[in-house]
Amino acid sequence: MCGIIGILSNNLVAERLIDGLSRLEYRGYDSAGIATIWENTIAKRRSEGKLQALKDLLGQKPLQGNVGIGHTRWATHGSPTHQNAHPHATDRVAVVHNGIIENYQLLKNDLLKNGVIFKSETDTEVVVHLIDQALQLGKSPEVAVQETLAKLHGAFALAIIFKDHPDVLIGARRGSPLVLGICENELFLGSDAWALAPWTQKVCYLEEGDVVIMKRSDGFTYTIFNDEAWAPINRPVKHLNLATGAVSKGGYSHFMLKEIFEQPQTLSDTLLSLIDAETQTSRINLPIDFSGEHIRIRLIACGSSYYASLTAKYWFEKYARILCEVDLASEFRYCDPVLGKHDIFIFVSQSGETTDTLAALNLAKAKGCVTLALVNVPESSMTRTADHHILTLAGPEIGVASTKAFTAQLAVLCALALHAAAQRKTIDTVSVHLGELLHVPKLVAQVLQDVSLFDELGLRLSQTRDVLFIGRGTNYPIALEGALKLKEISYIHAEAYAAGELKHGPIALVDKLTPLIAIAPNDAWFEKTSSNIQEVATRGAPIIILTDNPAFTVNCPEFHKILLPKSTPLNACFIYTAAVQCIAYYTALHKGTDVDQPRNLAKSVTVE
Ligand code: AGP
Repeated sequence: MCGIIGILSNNLVAERLIDGLSRLEYRGYDSAGIATIWENTIAKRRSEGKLQALKDLLGQKPLQGNVGIGHTRWATHGSPTHQNAHPHATDRVAVVHNGIIENYQLLKNDLLKNGVIFKSETDTEVVVHLIDQALQLGKSPEVAVQETLAKLHGAFALAIIFKDHPDVLIGARRGSPLVLGICENELFLGSDAWALAPWTQKVCYLEEGDVVIMKRSDGFTYTIFNDEAWAPINRPVKHLNLATGAVSKGGYSHFMLKEIFEQPQTLSDTLLSLIDAETQTSRINLPIDFSGEHIRIRLIACGSSYYASLTAKYWFEKYARILCEVDLASEFRYCDPVLGKHDIFIFVSQSGETTDTLAALNLAKAKGCVTLALVNVPESSMTRTADHHILTLAGPEIGVASTKAFTAQLAVLCALALHAAAQRKTIDTVSVHLGELLHVPKLVAQVLQDVSLFDELGLRLSQTRDVLFIGRGTNYPIALEGALKLKEISYIHAEAYAAGELKHGPIALVDKLTPLIAIAPNDAWFEKTSSNIQEVATRGAPIIILTDNPAFTVNCPEFHKILLPKSTPLNACFIYTAAVQCIAYYTALHKGTDVDQPRNLAKSVTVE
């Protein structure tokens, strides 16, 4: 999703706008730009493609000015061209925007009727012209913004500068995150606190409907209004301790590869925050009672976080004997769901900012249900909105395709299911299972000890057009995750099915050109899954089996077996996740796609 930076200073700002944008690149984008005010003029520099193109442009045509805004654009309305890149501006005002103005066409039609000339295809440009019209009527920047926001439907984070008011920077938040950074002689706006960390660790998170008016005239002051009452409100100032250095690849060729290999450590960090290794008991300290007879767990998420939630359903029901439902956030929020008063809602999100998941969280809160957020980014919207939260300790995940955050989510969810089982006294093997969990980092490290077979397989798969994945039980959501990883970074069409579902239609897809990747640990389901593999093999499809059963073989034209560490039903998903991550990574590497920032994707989906 788009990234926003704003700086109000006594010093030049252009270079730091670029620095701030570079810390937001991980969000995914396809064009970038900045604007400053200098000698009573709004000056813009915008470019298609990556940030380097903008840096090169600024090298040729530097920008002066000590107030400015910057933007990395993930295209929603209008192709990723120079014309559609932000900032958008008139002579009087410049705006950068993250989100979607849902009623922009109506507003644009009215503006066109009034003779306004549009230069872009974007929804954002209507905001610029509405503010500009109010300024022409002599309205102050605050009033011009206030009146404009009242006309907008949809989601936005905005940063706005004004030619005739170079001492003012305004930010507004409705549906997309925006953070105010505070220094004695400078003020900042950013899409997240991490982007501002090299300049300030003192931040204020704008809440829904907040507008911040930042001024330089009488010292660097700011006032926050909420667009409902438009009365000044106080938001807590937080003092963070975020890493200030740019996250490096640490010698790896991609952030994704680094983050795959970080998993033994990030899993250990996450698990040890949840489990007392000495006593093999839960350290989870939540004021949530899971022991009630009518308790129901409702897991809500998107993408990989949804697949982690599907995996957790098996654990909550098997170990804690709690009915567990899993919903896609984008469906849940619009299907007028039935919410039970004993429902415990768990929202799973790496970014803590995913619009659909955050909206579902607000819906559950509004109905008075207990809400728990499992999030990787501290201080994100979901951690500040949910009644309770548990952090996955995977650290900043830069690769757009989730890896270490996904396995950390599995770790938290498994530990939470066992924590609930201990409260409900449904099994007397909680300590044993917690011990199994504590062993997971070593098992994942074993998978990653030698990735040469994944590399060979990646070369083979890089020539395919379609791939099928299958799995049973907790291996089914891992098959889904494996298919998502492969398709999102290699652009190869990949689908996953519950192994038992193949015969109900998908087996029609099987042919000699469509490899099958079977996730088949030597568990209680192995015989059944091997029958499914045979059914596919007899139709000539290339077979790739991930297993810890060395004896397994199948008669088919092309057969690959990747032997993985011995597993249990509880820890298999971690082992096989690491394997499918590596398969996806090496396939994409051989295909030559942009592994860390795949086309069309964003790290944090803050629009619907
Ligand atoms: C993960 O590889 C994907 N990039 C994507 O599906 C992601 O999991 C999804 O957008 C949810 O994001 P969140 O965990 O930050 O809410």
